[in-house]
Amino acid sequence: MRQPRLLLLFLLLPALAGCTGTPQPATVKAKGKTGSSARIVAETAAAPATPATQQPVARDPHSFSHPDEVVVEHLKLDLTVDFTKKILTGRASLRLHNKTGAGVLFLDTHGLDIRKVLLDGAAEAKFTLHDEQPIFGSALEIQITPATQWVSIDYSTRPDAAALQWLDPEQTSGKKLPFLLSQSEAILARTWVPCQDSPGVRMTYEATLRVPPGMLALMSASNRAQKTADGVYQFEMPQRIPSYLLAIAVGDMTFRAFDARTGVYAETPVTEAAAWELADTPKMVDAAEKLYGPYQWGRYDILVLPPSFPYGGMENPRLTFATPTILARDRSLVSLIAHELAHSWSGNLVTNATWNDFWLNEGLTTYAERRIMETLSGKDYADMLAVIGRQDLDRAIEDAGGLASKDTALRLDIGTRDPDEVTGDLAYEKGALFLRLLEQSVGRQRFDAFLHSYFKTFAFQSMDSDRFVAYLKQNLLGNDEALARKLQVDAWVYAPGLPDNAPVIHSTLLDQVDQQLGAFAKGSPAGQLQTQGWTTNHWLHFLRNLPAATDKTRMADLDAAFHFTDTGNSEILGEWLLRSLRTNYDVAWPALERFLTSQGRRKFLSPLYTEMAKTPAGAEMGLRIYEKARPGYHSVARQSIDKILSWRQP
Ligand code: BES
Ligand code: ZN
Repeated sequence: MRQPRLLLLFLLLPALAGCTGTPQPATVKAKGKTGSSARIVAETAAAPATPATQQPVARDPHSFSHPDEVVVEHLKLDLTVDFTKKILTGRASLRLHNKTGAGVLFLDTHGLDIRKVLLDGAAEAKFTLHDEQPIFGSALEIQITPATQWVSIDYSTRPDAAALQWLDPEQTSGKKLPFLLSQSEAILARTWVPCQDSPGVRMTYEATLRVPPGMLALMSASNRAQKTADGVYQFEMPQRIPSYLLAIAVGDMTFRAFDARTGVYAETPVTEAAAWELADTPKMVDAAEKLYGPYQWGRYDILVLPPSFPYGGMENPRLTFATPTILARDRSLVSLIAHELAHSWSGNLVTNATWNDFWLNEGLTTYAERRIMETLSGKDYADMLAVIGRQDLDRAIEDAGGLASKDTALRLDIGTRDPDEVTGDLAYEKGALFLRLLEQSVGRQRFDAFLHSYFKTFAFQSMDSDRFVAYLKQNLLGNDEALARKLQVDAWVYAPGLPDNAPVIHSTLLDQVDQQLGAFAKGSPAGQLQTQGWTTNHWLHFLRNLPAATDKTRMADLDAAFHFTDTGNSEILGEWLLRSLRTNYDVAWPALERFLTSQGRRKFLSPLYTEMAKTPAGAEMGLRIYEKARPGYHSVARQSIDKILSWRQP
């Protein structure tokens, strides 16, 4: 069944948005179906804190759902994981709260095969799966009654479901069993679960997964550490979460406990190394709790995934997903865990209402990450991270098109673009810098108390930029408008660029690196540089700031002294390979190819392919490597690299 009217309306939306100057929801209502035509959107712009019971429903341009009318409160999944067909198949049952007596439920789906829809477990419902839109997928429109409590959808995913990656045994460390992993943020949950796929909607969930015997199944929920004999697993997530935190992993994994409430899962051959590297996790949870209040999610475990995982980390509740590229064997990259853990407050507890407010997730988290690291490793260490972060910000501004680009505002205006294309490093580092400014201005004690009460007040709710600013002005700045103006609060949040009161960060630890960079620039041979005790971040700073004139010969000198081409540290290798491309240091090409074919973390892939794409010879090499590497990448990475290389399926 098709609905051309829906498509037409959808296509018109960007134009409409342009006319009114306000972002328009991509959700469109088939008129006359639901009775009322007015969307009830409680936007409490300049209002003080909304009572905790009144969760506002933000307008989300990236969801077809109408949570202001009917909201999904609970999800019950019963899925079979079929590694042969590379599909999930089964039933998703949704418990509804019908606020307005609506006669229709709109869900987000993307590439799902819907077989049947039942109301309250019995009557077959009429439903329409609307035309598929690029990025958004298909609205699933289900006829319900005001009394309907449960809607059950029998469905299957397809092998190309964007959230899911199905690894063949050869692509795993164990080489014996296949592996399944998911990545739902930002709007990919709908490619494996029919749901209201908006960060402004929260639900509890439970699940039954049926997997081949001998495999462990994990979700962002209560997990059992041991395999079951029959391959059937039960999960429960009693805290309300947004759909982008739905997660699944199935494979040959083993668990190691750190203490009573934390531990690590990894592919069995990796578990030892992961347990050693991440052993400070309990200290991090303690540090975070001291700063921001009790950890609200029960257990905190980490899952170290196979190397194709497209992100460094993902804050799936109770079970952070992490790339194995953080296993540097010296614990030098564990700030990534501090980051994902911090999301247990900023993001998972208080959630960005729409992807336009992404900085409320990532900026606050990046700030909190450094505070946790400061507790564990000291101020100098945290300042070093902040300086590296400041370099990331400069790169992000450049990538966004410079300081004048609208996409450099903290509060984004994504419109109907793919959130994945707009939500870059900027939100992290500009957001963190803004919070650093606030901390410096009011003092640490007051700022800590403010954040603590923010998380407490808005726990399990969504938050948008307007409400955050209102809460900030009232509770941190005491309604002192002059102070807010002096701090340029509105400019920080709503305007592009960087206000002139951005804190300048200095790192004493990196001073010694700068000294050695100076010596190297003056011609000192690499072998004479003083680099004792340097860890990953020192080296990153060193490589990022090598003199522009560093040529192939000097690259060879550096390589002979420090063996960068052969390093197993992926952060250092990524930076080195980028330099190698820029200086045409072709000795590193085999290592480059190995790196690009052995891991799929987009942060490492994108800059390297982008650099290669700059010259015809580089583009040729890029395409040749990509052809080989692409089947091993997650769709999230493929989507980016396809664009960088103008890849066409042969
Ligand atoms: N939530 C993000 C990952 C993400 C963002 C996935 C947007 C999809 C859309 C996660 O917390 C994150 O920020 N990961 C970073 C690591 C962090 C230490 C900066 C990453 O993957 O690089
Ligand atoms: Zn994050």
